[in-house]
Amino acid sequence: MQKIVILTGAGISAESGLGTFRDEGGLWAQHRIEDVATPEGFARDPALVHGFYNARRMQAAKARPNTAHAALARLQRDWPGEVVIVTQNVDGLHEAGGAEEVIHMHGVLAGALCAACGHRWPAPEEMAVGEPCPACNGPTARPDVVWFGEMPYRMDEIYDHLAGAAIFAAIGTSGQVYPAAAFVHEAIAAGARTVELNLDPSDTVSSFDETRFGPATQTVPAWVTELLGQSE
Ligand code: OAD
Repeated sequence: MQKIVILTGAGISAESGLGTFRDEGGLWAQHRIEDVATPEGFARDPALVHGFYNARRMQAAKARPNTAHAALARLQRDWPGEVVIVTQNVDGLHEAGGAEEVIHMHGVLAGALCAACGHRWPAPEEMAVGEPCPACNGPTARPDVVWFGEMPYRMDEIYDHLAGAAIFAAIGTSGQVYPAAAFVHEAIAAGARTVELNLDPSDTVSSFDETRFGPATQTVPAWVTELLGQSE
């Protein structure tokens, strides 16, 4: 049965109260990427970086999944083929909304990573500078999120899924950050039908076969209902 690969971005969590990056007043209007989302920024001022992610971790812990997250979980459950959710989001709202398997290509706020030995463990609510790694005891704990200049996680697996996709959807992402912004081209090369669901047209909108504009809580459940109707 047909495989669906879905890429999500900050827009799907916007109606759960989590700010996006590039919309007006978004996170990148309030913070400099170089300061809080690069390995160099962390080396320069780890307290600032921990403060940024601690605040986001606490906010995400309080957020509730919305009907768009729930609709994708329904699709994963009821579609007769495989539904792969790849997210750039570091919140856990897909899982909280019932999704079973989610590829977090930019990591997770709920995780800690040792910059020295690569060990991973659940992050405390607040991470502090110099916190020891439980495996190697080095003072090298960092949030398990991918920063600019680092390689996103599980890329081989994602490209394998894209190569087998019959349908590719990008939801709530501006198409400004690579490699995710190029997934649509991989999907096209695989012969997939492509659809963008977003509030406004993304930077890659012209590559998609179909576009649906509006808030994710409206467009995503409607799209899922249509797809499931076709599969019956
Ligand atoms: P952006 O902030 O770049 O884009 C958010 C997109 O969501 C925009 O295209 C909005 O139009 C759309 N949007 C806003 N509200 C929406 C709603 N209610 N329903 C549907 N769409 C809505 O966020 P991303 O594309 O996720 O990476 O950003 C990609 C990456 O850039 C992030 O993972 C992060 C960031 O820098 C790292 O930190 C490495």
